Amino acid sequence: MASSFLVVTVALLVPTFIIVFHSLWMAFVEALWLTPRRIKRVLERQGIKCLPFRILIGNLPELAALCEEAKSQPLSCIKHDYAAYAIPYYYRWIEEYGDNFAFWQGSQARFFLTNPDDVKEVLYSRSPHISRPKRRPDGVKLIDNGLLQIEGERWSFHRRTLNPGFLPEKLKSMIPIMSRCTMEMIERWSTKNVKKHEIDVFTELKPLSADIIARTAFGSSYAEARQIFELQQEQLLLEGKIQSRPFIPGVRFIPTAFNRHCWRVEKRIEELTLRIIEKRTQRRKLDQHEDAQDDDLLGLMIDAMEDRGVERKTMSMGMADIIGESKTFFAAGQETTSTCISWTLMLLAAHPEWQERVREEVRTACDAVGFPTSDSLHRLKLLSMVLNESLRLYPPLPIMLRMSKKDVRVGKTLVPKGTVMMLPIIAFHHDQRYWGPDANEFRPDRFRDGSSKASQSKSSVFLPFSSGPQFCIGQPFALQQAKIVISAILLRYRIIISPQYRHSPIFAFILQPEFGIPLLFESI
Ligand code: HEM
Ligand SMILES: *[C@@H]1O[C@H](CO)[C@@H](O)[C@H](O)[C@H]1NC(C)=O
Repeated sequence: MASSFLVVTVALLVPTFIIVFHSLWMAFVEALWLTPRRIKRVLERQGIKCLPFRILIGNLPELAALCEEAKSQPLSCIKHDYAAYAIPYYYRWIEEYGDNFAFWQGSQARFFLTNPDDVKEVLYSRSPHISRPKRRPDGVKLIDNGLLQIEGERWSFHRRTLNPGFLPEKLKSMIPIMSRCTMEMIERWSTKNVKKHEIDVFTELKPLSADIIARTAFGSSYAEARQIFELQQEQLLLEGKIQSRPFIPGVRFIPTAFNRHCWRVEKRIEELTLRIIEKRTQRRKLDQHEDAQDDDLLGLMIDAMEDRGVERKTMSMGMADIIGESKTFFAAGQETTSTCISWTLMLLAAHPEWQERVREEVRTACDAVGFPTSDSLHRLKLLSMVLNESLRLYPPLPIMLRMSKKDVRVGKTLVPKGTVMMLPIIAFHHDQRYWGPDANEFRPDRFRDGSSKASQSKSSVFLPFSSGPQFCIGQPFALQQAKIVISAILLRYRIIISPQYRHSPIFAFILQPEFGIPLLFESI
């Protein structure tokens, strides 16, 4: 009896085992060997040079070596001609292989679109076969279920739901909050009561941006959102570690110390976001008449969840969507904006004549308390030119990525299924062919007649916020915040580059100053 049971069990288990093992193995071979082989074949047939493929690691070692080599020759002064320092592999490989080449980020094929026309084609493409790349299966769940990851109908619905949160009237109503948060930061600085002190603006501005987005978008204070930001910063570090290693299927399920740490961080973020959302839904139940306070981003999403919005029935948002979007807004809106403001302050400190001109402009535009008013904000022409020039030279998102989910044609190239296209915005922004011989100099004047006339290129080569249907939803929000913060600082302080400042823009998801941006603040 017992032995026949055993025989039956074994007879059933062994084939199941073989089937499971076989399909796992095939998926393995497919991802790590067959797909790269096919991509290589299709690209090489078109005369595109592929760097040597090695199983699992691809060109990760070369990539690391080139970055290390670049770092070993620090920039000696504040050169805006730093692009080959921040993304050395791009320039090195173009030199070696020409404009059309592909390399292997582990097993993943990556192909730079070096022609702005091709980039435009991709950004405006309606093809369902071009999307932002999915995160690596073993990557951190930073922005799942948010605009940056979802597609198709679901993306359109989310975007339509959230768009009203960025309308001019809405932004106007955020000016007092943005000003108040900025004032609190400046008051913290002024307790130091010395005429001149050093401030690392890169570090100081991060919590400010976090505070502003928390209060404007979620009506919650920074104290509550702070933990989320800190955990997200940590997620970015973890993601950096994951990205620099080869992807091995299955390893992500093993409860290693590293993996368990990643899981804990993810879980904590979900819990904290959920708490902010629940607090709001409860408050809504308590005071239903106070709807005026409630049409921020979170309110709009809860409307969509409770089916109260304009658009009924067709689709709605679930709790997972709201959590996803909240995380996305925290992640997409914070570091980008604080980095942009930090680079701009560095540029103004390095170019005192521009600092003085902008200060004069700001003086005429501010109210008695020293903040720009809603009417004067759009009159800050010089500051707007300076911001654009800063976004050109130091684009917070220097490279955008797109993935082909089927073979797709882009310009002259047939991009094979499974290729990640890299859109090197930073390289366009620094290219003398488009901006003239002074491409690498700080010359805000080039934006005197707006951004479309600033370059000599037919296609747009100024893409700090991207372009096309998926362009940055937060652009006006970020620019308004930047204008308020910079105005407030310039009115109170003369800023000077600190002797401690070491110029080292590096590309780690965003374009960061590796050693911060210490500036000397001298009270006026
Ligand atoms: C100077 C600051 C900022 C810069 C340079 C910037 C840049 C960008 C870029 C280049 C994209 C397109 C990414 C891609 O297609 O791969 C993007 C998308 C996005 N950004 Fe921003 N951003 C900034 C601030 C903000 C802020 C303040 C928010 C939110 C309050 C925000 C929210 C988003 C979202 C949600 C998307 C995805 C849009 C969609 O797919 O519909 N960004 N941003
Ligand atoms: C700055 O660039 C934005 C597009 O990113 C544009 O809308 C704006 O008009 C530009 N401002 C100036 C002064 O060039």
